[in-house]
Amino acid sequence: MSKFDLRKWLDAAKESGQLEIINGADASLEIGAASQLNYKRKVPKALIFDDIMGYQPGNRVLTGSVSNPKLLGMTLDLGPDLSDLELVEALRGKPQQWLKDAPDFRAVEVEDGPIFENVIPKDKVNFLDFPSPLWHELDGGRYIGTGCAVITSDPDTGVVNLGAYRMQVQDNGASVSINAESGKHGFQHISKWFEREGRAPVAAILGQHPLFLIVSGTEVPGGVSEMDYAGAILGESVPVVRAPETGLPIPAESEIAFEGWLYPDRKRPEGPFGEWTGYYSGEVAPVLTVEIAGLFHRNNPINLGAPPGKPPHDYSYMRSVMKSAMATDALTGMGLAGVTGVWCHEVGGGRSIIAVAIEQRYAGHSRQAGYLAAQHPVTAYMNRFVIVVDSDINPRDLDEVMWAMSTRCDPDRDIEIMRYSWGSRVDPLGVAGQPAYNSRALIDACRPFERLHDFPLVAEASVGILSQVAKKWPGLRE
Ligand SMILES: Cc1cc2nc3c(=O)[nH]c(=O)nc-3n(C[C@H](O)[C@H](O)[C@H](O)COP(=O)(O)O)c2cc1C
Repeated sequence: MSKFDLRKWLDAAKESGQLEIINGADASLEIGAASQLNYKRKVPKALIFDDIMGYQPGNRVLTGSVSNPKLLGMTLDLGPDLSDLELVEALRGKPQQWLKDAPDFRAVEVEDGPIFENVIPKDKVNFLDFPSPLWHELDGGRYIGTGCAVITSDPDTGVVNLGAYRMQVQDNGASVSINAESGKHGFQHISKWFEREGRAPVAAILGQHPLFLIVSGTEVPGGVSEMDYAGAILGESVPVVRAPETGLPIPAESEIAFEGWLYPDRKRPEGPFGEWTGYYSGEVAPVLTVEIAGLFHRNNPINLGAPPGKPPHDYSYMRSVMKSAMATDALTGMGLAGVTGVWCHEVGGGRSIIAVAIEQRYAGHSRQAGYLAAQHPVTAYMNRFVIVVDSDINPRDLDEVMWAMSTRCDPDRDIEIMRYSWGSRVDPLGVAGQPAYNSRALIDACRPFERLHDFPLVAEASVGILSQVAKKWPGLRE
């Protein structure tokens, strides 16, 4: 077993008390609703659904895999004992390092692997043989691909991309559609293949170590093979088998995988789907649908689900932590002084609401921090509010951020609007058929620079007296 085997990960999750087993759920709505109850808990757990109604025991679905600090730390090999902000600190500089290290951890091709325990020829493929959840009541169909990784290659360079793009079951189970938004790396690869060959090879994994969910669902810069990037994160090359028809690499220990071809005019109606914004996305639209060449699965396979919805949702915690670390690196990497913390809030799906804390050094510093955070490539997509606060405010704590906003921000002078910025097709405010622009606000909730020396002092006990009192009456801190 390599480090990328989901079953090894499950053993570790179970041992650390982070795994719950739910027996007897219906794939139609019950798995989705139970996952929602879980991710709305203060500290969610990983859930394994087994004995799913109408399916053989062992044919399972996993959700909540990266929904708390212990699970996320464990998945990234950073240990299970870090808090939210410690995780962000531990991740600082890592994405750049992984990019550098990726060539040293090239995926290693192996002849065979557990994924080939069952090889299903194309005319026998039925995705409904696996519990494919109807996650939300108004979804347009069954989505077997949520925490999935779509594998594509650049026809010019051979670079392999992993992208989490939702996949709806199509053609009564014989196929799936792949909803890669324009601009995404997978979309770019597919478009290049269309221009060159008239069709695009594609593969996908539908059950795998949650590290692949993090890699495929996070904006890794183009030009690096994300399979190698995953290897760099765990310090071990990913063992891969070659897909027989397309030649694409598939992690050998995956649970469920398929390969096939996309054609520009092979589309099926797709959606709506409950999305990370907390709303059902747009209207039913034609989406590229795979001509399946083969399907592979392990015995007793596990589908990795990551259902979005009104945040916090299944993977919003992971997104917040990864984005917060990447945004902190991005801001300091551009030379911005005095950044003391960044948190991309879960209520905004890790994208729309970003709090940046700074130690003000000069007039205009807070505005500069806000503009940069709102438009840097790492944070620009679907951002709506950047709130800049002083360093005495914990950017992770929305109450503190809102208090700073309500006492240090004068709307007349401290809110800047940016227009025609990078929006998204899933924006509930977007209008169908119109370009996906959005506008965004920079909310400067820092004390005015010229008043730093005489701004009213905060009315709370100092650290010294607090710890003196807490020592005397320890129960008060519990
Ligand atoms: C669970 C999950 C589902 C996602 N679904 C979609 C989707 O349907 N379409 C899409 O374009 N992006 C989706 N995303 C976001 C992309 O995965 C993300 O932007 C990623 O960086 C894309 O990879 P790429 O930059 O290599 O294209 C999803 C992310 C996650 C974590």
